[in-house]
Amino acid sequence: MSVEKRPTVLSGIQPSGRLTIGNYLGALKHWLGLHDQFDCYYMLVDLHAITVRQDPALLRERCHEFLALYIACGLDPRHNVLFVQSHVPQHAELAWVLNTFTQMGELNRMTQFKDKSAKHADNINAGLFGYPVLMAADILLYQAERVPVGDDQKQHLELTRDIALRFNNVHGPVFTVPEPMIPPVGARIMGLQTPTAKMSKSGDAETDAIYLLDEPAVITRKIKRAVTDTENAIRFDVANKPGVSNLLSMLAALSDETMPALEARFDGKGYGHLKGEVAERVVALLEPIQARYHEVRAAPDYLQQVLRDGAARATKKAAITLGRVHDALGFIPR
Ligand code: TYM
Repeated sequence: MSVEKRPTVLSGIQPSGRLTIGNYLGALKHWLGLHDQFDCYYMLVDLHAITVRQDPALLRERCHEFLALYIACGLDPRHNVLFVQSHVPQHAELAWVLNTFTQMGELNRMTQFKDKSAKHADNINAGLFGYPVLMAADILLYQAERVPVGDDQKQHLELTRDIALRFNNVHGPVFTVPEPMIPPVGARIMGLQTPTAKMSKSGDAETDAIYLLDEPAVITRKIKRAVTDTENAIRFDVANKPGVSNLLSMLAALSDETMPALEARFDGKGYGHLKGEVAERVVALLEPIQARYHEVRAAPDYLQQVLRDGAARATKKAAITLGRVHDALGFIPR
């Protein structure tokens, strides 16, 4: 079979904070196995991460940590292109071009920009504003058909599609218009202490998130202390029972049981029971991932080689698209 003809999948994670069970259930889990049907590109988006101030030593450390976690979760570098965004200069170059196909009004409507500028009011930089344009460049450079992400990236994907269509309308069919792949369960895991807000990698409260590298005892304790309500009835009702609904969502995503089946199984049981089962499932998932992580992390030369190969393979594809874009725009070839 010709590898060239396979459709492309692309996704990425910002190497900021620590990877959470939300990142896993909303995104990473769904990347595994796609390489059977697609050419898969998975990035660490360091250019995006610097839209919020990062400590340089920590950023470097996080990139290695996240790469090792990608591999430990089951992304085999022989079947998936794993790379760092800043190693492929075409991302920033295409973002510049796409800036001229994006309206200020569109960027002003992005909810993530509004949230982040409220959170980082002392540093509302132009990079934060243009963040979704760089994300569009990430996707369009690889002519990705599918983009597996959590629910919070939906608006960015819609903008990416609009930018691609706008460019194509002016210059002909240069870009593939991508489709998001958002999982039916687990696409928005909420905080354990604040179940009305998304679980976040870089939140302030340690107990709000389960990190992929948390010790089993810590995971169990965090889940046991998760905020619920006083009704003591286990049913999925996000508006009235956000904490319990979040635990049920996590269990549904971890077990592949349907919500009605879970509600029936937990009928008449207490919250302690539900929490116990969620904790067991999370620990059973993460223990082998952590063991593999420590093995991979102990092999820095291997990780370096993975990044070198990934950058070479990604650059090859990215350069072809950028060449076509420059040609369509009328730039003189070098
Ligand atoms: P980031 O780093 O915030 O999150 C990485 C992925 O995890 C998903 N996610 C969640 N899913 C379920 N519940 C949660 N609580 C949760 N939190 C995060 C996100 O939806 C995402 O899929 N802009 C992107 C990174 C990016 C990207 C791209 C993604 C840059 N370029 C190109 C796809 C394609 C981001 O900040 O994700």
